[in-house]
Parts: sequence; structure tokens; C-alpha cells
Amino acid sequence: MDRGVSLPLPTVSRESTPVGEFFTIRWQDGEVVMLDQRLLPTREVYRRYRDYRAVARAITRMVIRGAPAIGVAAAMGIALGARQLQRITDPAAFERLCQQFAATRPTAVNLFWAIERMRHAYAQVRACGRRAICDRLTQEALAIYEEDVAANRRMGQYGATLIPPGATVLTHCNAGALATAGYGTALGVIRAAWEQGKQIAVIVPETRPFLQGARLTAWELVKEGIPATLVTDSMVGYFMQKGKIDCVVVGTDRTAANGDVANKIGTYTTAVLAARHRVPFYVAAPTSSIDLLCPTGAQIPIEERAAREVTHILRQQIAPAGVRVANPAFDVTPHELVSAIITEEGIARAPFAQSLPLLVQKGKNNRQRREMAVTEQAERTDG
Ligand code: MRU
Repeated sequence: MDRGVSLPLPTVSRESTPVGEFFTIRWQDGEVVMLDQRLLPTREVYRRYRDYRAVARAITRMVIRGAPAIGVAAAMGIALGARQLQRITDPAAFERLCQQFAATRPTAVNLFWAIERMRHAYAQVRACGRRAICDRLTQEALAIYEEDVAANRRMGQYGATLIPPGATVLTHCNAGALATAGYGTALGVIRAAWEQGKQIAVIVPETRPFLQGARLTAWELVKEGIPATLVTDSMVGYFMQKGKIDCVVVGTDRTAANGDVANKIGTYTTAVLAARHRVPFYVAAPTSSIDLLCPTGAQIPIEERAAREVTHILRQQIAPAGVRVANPAFDVTPHELVSAIITEEGIARAPFAQSLPLLVQKGKNNRQRREMAVTEQAERTDG
């Protein structure tokens, strides 16, 4: 079972880069610690997990959410599971563990990307015994965590070049520190522009039904003192028409090889409005969220979530019992509506089918170079 603990914050076992005075997820003393995002903004409660099954449940139940954060949680959950399962040297047992995480949420490709990295790490040491497997999986989960923060900061630097001084930026959902290991993707771009002194302001749609905009993005921006205005989702067209929005920056759960972008439901509506009003529409996408094996957005699985998210706001029922409900959690914005895709390796422009593979490959090469440098350093220290 997970245990809710209130502040003060637990100390970290490894160097990390949280934003402000909170963190989304950490590996600490062989346990996974997460901020329970369901309780924000009114309560800051950290939960500790010792059981991998509880980590998988935490992902499904939205204790932690946001594509990169889901990937990190799954990686840490698998590292935790390896320690729990006596038969982890059996590849079938390891695969069952991975499958439990793969079944948590279907749309964010970062989840499957992180699981694939854990599989690769397992394969490297599976013949070396239980201890080596546990150590290697923990090391890989921490690497995924640390690389995510670093990627977000690099993405922020690239993305900030697109934000004019004094701009009003509209985002959607929460693609902030809470949706990642730290700093954020779309909100990372906004943070970087703010840190560069660009005097920007942010418009935050509440993002029904789960209210990630109102509860999470607004919370992060208020905490950091970045000027933010909360609006309902239905007000976006009004502000576009009035010329109040200079650009849109959103995150993504999965971007297909042709540049079609799956993101929180309502993103497509915003993209259509942006095109109508000639407002640039940017997507902040770490290469871990680009799925080159998915040819177009039509192949991206869209998660359908519980009706209760629509019939209720928090605990308050707002619709009659028995009404039929649809609750697709994501939509797909066609690539023609996307002005640019910002990654940690640079900015991709159309044709995305050509520019995205180059940046994904650059990311792989850079990671390989970093891994080789770490190995050489370790060998020098050992020798
Ligand atoms: O259902 P959620 O809250 O997991 O959806 C999150 C989003 O749609 C984000 O915009 C996306 O994951 C990008 S986060 C960096």
C-alpha cells in the first residue's frame, strides 16, 4: 500500500533538479516517492511506494500523469518490482512485470519507450544474477529520470527562441514540471522565456474534464510568479478573435512520424482556432514522445477514461445519473496545423516526416556518446 506523507519533503538520494519547492517523483532509499497530483492545488501530499503494483495503480489513477512522468514512474516501478520478485532472473517473470506497466495508460508513448529501455537494460545483465539485475534496472530508471530533466531544459532553450518578448502564450492541460521529471516541456519553454526576462504572460485553459490546467498549470505558474490568467476551455476562441494570444505552446503524449500530434482533449480545437487566427501553434516534444513507428495520428490509441470524470467535478455531481457519456482523454492535431515541433535536439519544421527522424537519430547518438563517456569515466576510476 502507498502511504501519504505530508511535508516536509523527503531528502534525495541522488542529484536532481526540481523546480521550486516541490518534486513530481523521486527514487529514495529503494522506494518511489510521488506528489499526489489528484489533491493539488489544495493539498501537497507525497506518497511512498514499496510495491510495484501500487506504482502501476498510481499511474492508472492519475496520482502521477503527463507523458514523460508516466515513463519515469514505470521505469522506477519496474526497478522496484525487480527487487520484490524472487524469480526476476526468469525473463518471463520480468516480461510479466513490464506488461503490468504497459497496461496502465495507452496513449503516452513515453511509457512504452521507457519500458523498452528497461528491457534493454535487463537483457544486458540477465545472466549476471539477481543483484546485478536490480542494480542495473535502478541505474536505468535513474538515468531516464535525469535525462528527462536535462532534455526539458535543452528544449526550453530552443523553444524560448520562438517566444517574442512580451508575448501572451496559450498552453493547454499541464505539460509542466508535474508532467515530467522536472522543469516541463511546454511549460519548460514558457519557463525558459520567463527566465530570459521576456516578460511574457500565460493563458491557462482549465482543461476539462480532469482540470489539469486549473489545478496543476495554474499552481505551477502562481508558485513561480509567472503572470497567468485562468480561463475556461470555451473561452479560447474569444481570446484568439480578440487578438489576445500571440502563440500557442502545448505538450504531446505521442507524435507520429508525419508530425500528427496526440495531446490532451481540446488541443485540436485550439489548433484549428490558431490556424483560423494565424497564431503560431508550437508543440514541445521530447524525442521520447516521438513515435517513428506510428506513421500517422490515425494509428495512435486514444484512451477512453471513466464517465465519472465528466459527470462530476471533483466530488460534485453535475449531470443526471444515467446520462450517456463520452470521455476520450486525447485528440490528434493534424501536422498541417503545427507550426513547429520543439525537441531537446532542435526545432523541427515541415515536412516533419523528414525533420523528425533526423532529430530522433541525433538524440540517440547523443545518448550513446553520454553513455560511453560515463563508462570510460567509470573504467578510469576503477583502474
Ligand atoms: O491525462 P494526462 O494528464 O496524463 O495528459 C497529459 C497531457 O496531455 C500533456 O499535455 C502531455 O502528456 C504532455 S506532458 C509533458
